[in-house]
This record gives sequence, structure tokens and C-alpha cells, in this order.
Amino acid sequence: MISSPLLDITDLRVSVRHRGEERLLVRDVGLTVRPAESVGLVGESGSGKSMTIKAAMRLLPHAVTVAGHIGFDGRDVRGLNRRDLARYRSREVALVHQDPRAHINPTRTIAQFVTEAAVHTGLMPEDEAIERACALMRDVGIADPERRLAQFPHQLSGGLLQRVMIVAALLPEPRLIFADEPTTALDVTVQSDVMAILLEQIRDRHAAMLFVTHDLDLAAAVTDRLAVMYAGAIVETGTSAAIYERPQHPYTAALLHSRPSTTEVRRLAAIPGRPVAAYESGEGCAFAPRCPFATDRCRQEVPLRREVGDRIVACHRVEEIAADAQVRAS
Ligand SMILES: Nc1ncnc2c1ncn2[C@@H]1O[C@H](COP(=O)(O)OP(=O)(O)O)[C@@H](O)[C@H]1O
Ligand SMILES: [Mg+2]
Repeated sequence: MISSPLLDITDLRVSVRHRGEERLLVRDVGLTVRPAESVGLVGESGSGKSMTIKAAMRLLPHAVTVAGHIGFDGRDVRGLNRRDLARYRSREVALVHQDPRAHINPTRTIAQFVTEAAVHTGLMPEDEAIERACALMRDVGIADPERRLAQFPHQLSGGLLQRVMIVAALLPEPRLIFADEPTTALDVTVQSDVMAILLEQIRDRHAAMLFVTHDLDLAAAVTDRLAVMYAGAIVETGTSAAIYERPQHPYTAALLHSRPSTTEVRRLAAIPGRPVAAYESGEGCAFAPRCPFATDRCRQEVPLRREVGDRIVACHRVEEIAADAQVRAS
């Protein structure tokens, strides 16, 4: 039996006013995450991944217009009152940011940062929060947690600070973790350690995860399902195994294996052209200017998301491209 979604985003649109005109940043995004499931949201920089997460956590400023439905465990997130919203943001979901240093108040101790959400929403008293923080810090490989709790952010390395961020996220035992490029800002040498720790903790707690990254290969390796985003819209969704095995949208195919390898020298299968934001795309398919398969129809008519075999793809030519690939392979 398929459980009903924990997070359910439908027809999400996000726009900002810029010099008197409305700029669309996220368009018609639909995304679900079921309990204990991990879903990857993948796309190049500027595609609208962080905006989507911020909308789901209601962290966007008033100047940003949000439309569509955001449901969490059957409740309407956009309709939550102040108290319920504070509870939702600090206990039911948690966010691990890309750059921990930019999101930790430098004037407060690690202890204050880590225990804040749990203590302020009345989940547990401070001494219990400290005790749990120490245990969690040991779990994520931080030696001498008592000493670390008394320190300030500048006294910790980036890798250590991101582990602290993970501890802060896990402490209130949220049911869903938004991980927004959680290792991108770290030194390459500690990236895989931090990623492994985050995944292990999320799995042990049976929490769900929405993992945001530009790295499709990594996302496919650590998630159950994937949603690929381009110019503010989702262009392909399916199971991670299926997408990794057989990408359908030309953009997904181009993203796959496009990361530089640290163990072998090989050419980047770079995608020509630059990514565009939703508001910059003209008529037709937003990917058409960079797509080797684009035809006049692609340049004129926006492809709708539709079911193609085991996934949902927004591309006019998926079937033809697949048939073509089969002919070439045989
Ligand atoms: N506060 C803002 N005002 C206007 N445009 C913004 C703002 N924040 C981000 N953008 C634009 O919105 C688009 C999506 O941004 P973002 O969600 O941060 O992308 P991603 O996380 O996928 O890299 C980008 O084109 C970015 O330039
Ligand atoms: Mg981002």
C-alpha cells in the first residue's frame, strides 16, 4: 500500500516584483514526499530549488508572491496561524542549509543554537535539550561535545559546523528534513563524511528527506525518487533507479554524469548554453535553446507534464528520442 504524502506541493508558483513587473521564479511545481521517503530535487543553479523549499517552509518574505497548495500531513501550510507555523517550522520539518556559517548567529553559543527550536516551542526543558544534544553530537562524530557546546561558531570548522547544523535539525525529531545542498559549501575532503552522517541519521529516525542538489548522480545514489527542475518547472519525475538507468528528458540525460570526477580525468559532458530562470524563458519549452533535439514545435509550444511509461516527463519528443536511441544502439 502506498502511504499518503507527508509533504504535498501542488501547482506551486513563486514570483517577485522587479521594477514594476512580475517575475516568475517557480512555475506549476508539483512534488510529494511520503513518510520516511527520500526525494531528490535536482537542477542547475538558479532553477528555483531553494525557492521551492523556502515556500514549503513559509520562509519567503512578503514581497514574494506564492500561489498553489502546500500540504503537510493533511494540513494546509499556507493557512497555518503564527503558533502552528512556529511549531511546524521547528518541530515537524527542519532545514539544513548550504552554508552553515551564513545561518548561525555568530554571537550565540553552539548550545543556544542547537537547543533553540526544541526549547522555545516548549518541546523539552533546556537541560534535557542539552543532554540530547550531547548524545546526538557523539552520534555524528563530534568529540568532546560539552566543550563544543560552550564555543562560538567561529571556533568550529565548516565541516564541524555543518554537523552541528544537522544536530540542531534532528534534535526536535522532525518528520521531514529539507537538505538544501548540505555539503556544497564544504571542503571536498569532508563532503562525503557529512553526507553519510546526514543520511545515516535520517534513516535511523525514519524521517523523510527532500534533498536539493545540482548533482544528479549523487541524488540518484541516495534517494528513492527524483524530480528534475529546469527554469522553475519540474521536467521529469520517476524513481531514482529508473532515471539513473534511463533518463527520458534531454535535460536529465545531459545532467547525468556531468559532474567532474575526482578519481578519473574525463571530459565534462557540458550542456551548451546557460540555464535560464522561469521568467527569462520565452515561448515554448524553456530547455529548447539548449536542446539538441528541439524542433519548431518545441520552440513554440510549452510541453505539458505527462505520463510516459514509468514516469512523468515534460517533453514533446520523448518517444521519438527514445526510439531513435534504440535504433542507434542496435
Ligand atoms: N529575492 C529574490 N528576488 C528576485 N529573484 C530572486 C530572489 N532570490 C532568488 N531569485 C532568483 O530566483 C531564481 C531561483 O533561485 P533559487 O531558488 O535560489 O535557485 P536554486 O536554489 O535552484 O539555485 C534565480 O533566477 C534567482 O536569481
Ligand atoms: Mg539554492
